Amino acid sequence: MHVNLKNDSQEYKYVTFYLKNYLCVLPGQEAMPNIKIKDLAFKKFISSSKIEEKIAELAAQISQDYKDKTPVFLPILNGSFMFASDLLKEIRVPCRVSFVKTSSYAGTSSTGQLKTLIGHDESLFQQHIIVVEDIVDTGLTLDKIIEELRERGAKSVEAVSLLRKKLAREKKIDVKYVGFDLENEFVLGYGLDYDGLGRNLTDIYKAIDSTAIEQ
Ligand code: IMP
Repeated sequence: MHVNLKNDSQEYKYVTFYLKNYLCVLPGQEAMPNIKIKDLAFKKFISSSKIEEKIAELAAQISQDYKDKTPVFLPILNGSFMFASDLLKEIRVPCRVSFVKTSSYAGTSSTGQLKTLIGHDESLFQQHIIVVEDIVDTGLTLDKIIEELRERGAKSVEAVSLLRKKLAREKKIDVKYVGFDLENEFVLGYGLDYDGLGRNLTDIYKAIDSTAIEQ
């Protein structure tokens, strides 16, 4: 590769970017540039192509399991908006969609208090419901919603989550369809945020120094 290293040239900018972001990458490995949001550094963790593949698998499984039904998908906002959108495009059975909004997170940890629950349409409760989560951590959000749906007479309730943390596995939180299992690390991107930021990233990133994260 020929490179002109003159200070004001396009080539110079390119080389600087290349050295900063790709120098540590071995031949054949994908480049994993880091990003910083507020006080935390994150590294790329799950690529958008891996997410896409996993979503196709999840959607195929759900479409098979619900082939004689018309499920209602219930994405939990805000975090699941991107996942729900991509998942639903791959679902091959007739279905409905309605949204709920909750929040138990402040910064990088669950507050344990479930705030705001909106958007329940009474007519949905005699249906086969699939709750759509971005990530299950303590399971507080999912448990609360599933309990409420069952109380209101849903015919069946299952959950699909793109990500599931170790804590949820230890607590045996019931999630029928899971994309990726994680340790108890803090992640962002693809709908997931850190203090409202990072939701628009197409890949998923994880916090580099998890000791710097309040638990
Ligand atoms: P849970 O109620 O503790 O299971 O938390 C569920 C919600 O917390 C998710 O829907 C996310 O919005 C948020 N959450 C949990 N872990 C993370 C994370 O690592 N990054 C960003 N948001 C998270």
